[in-house]
Amino acid sequence: MNQLFDLSDKVVVVTGATGILAGGSAKYLQKNGAIVVYLGRNKDRVNLATEEAKSISEKFMGLTCDVLDEASLREGFEKVIEKYGRVDALVNGAGGNMPGATIGPEKEIFDLDLEDYSKVMDLNLKGTVLPTLVFSQAFKEQKTGCVINFSSMSSTQALTRVLGYSNAKAAIDNFTRWMATEMAIKYGDGVRVNAVAPGFFISKQNRALLTNEDGSFTDRGQQVINKTPFRRFGKQEEVYGAIHYLISDASSFVTGSVMAVDGGFSCFSGV
Ligand SMILES: NC(=O)c1ccc[n+]([C@@H]2O[C@H](COP(=O)([O-])OP(=O)(O)OC[C@H]3O[C@@H](n4cnc5c(N)ncnc54)[C@H](O)[C@@H]3O)[C@@H](O)[C@H]2O)c1
Repeated sequence: MNQLFDLSDKVVVVTGATGILAGGSAKYLQKNGAIVVYLGRNKDRVNLATEEAKSISEKFMGLTCDVLDEASLREGFEKVIEKYGRVDALVNGAGGNMPGATIGPEKEIFDLDLEDYSKVMDLNLKGTVLPTLVFSQAFKEQKTGCVINFSSMSSTQALTRVLGYSNAKAAIDNFTRWMATEMAIKYGDGVRVNAVAPGFFISKQNRALLTNEDGSFTDRGQQVINKTPFRRFGKQEEVYGAIHYLISDASSFVTGSVMAVDGGFSCFSGV
């Protein structure tokens, strides 16, 4: 492979590695030579992910950690350092929405459940900030390393219903820029922070919102397709290349960017 894109033996920690986009990315990175740490909250699901990882290579480890639990993240960080001595990249994939933090068409804005709103803000924002603070400590010593966050189309455009999620993802864009600046100023140009902003990919969380049981689109699914010039949802493997690029030396002068992987959703007015 071209040296610019070489991932061989880079130690990459992936949170939410039991899920669809981050989990798929984790396996992709391992297949391309990286040493991958599969981090997830649920022990059984982490075990399932590492069972699959065994068939790829010996270069992996599983970590059961909640991204909102600083103590478990610190313990996880120590295990990674003990085993591999370094961290080259952190992919902050844990995140998602919760029904209570949304305003459905049948609801008033005033019905917002503030407790669920806070949970979604915490999972998506604090669940990215905390792992970054813990795992990027390695970057300070190494003077190299990178973070890839997960933003969303909802960070820059108002998407109906998903208030908490949108607020959190907007903050992720800001956190990406802030951390990119601060890390570069403090630790030099080998430390980079970027984000990917996936458009619409079918996941467990949004399947019922976007597609009917017979595979046809719901009204909301059709609205998304209408605003996507490619006229389709993304396939999970279509996000892997952006993550590969942002981890590799090919993006050595790229920091603070939020890369849309969206079939054109963010550039199209819909008209
Ligand atoms: N699927 C899409 O269309 C889409 C679009 C834009 C952005 N995103 C973002 O991409 C990221 C990955 O999404 P996905 O579709 O793969 O979702 P997913 O639900 O398949 O995966 C998320 C994973 O995070 C894990 N997780 C949840 N809470 C956790 C916690 N407290 N600690 C540790 N792990 C936890 C879950 O167990 C799950 O395995 C998320 O941040 C999501 O918001 C997804």
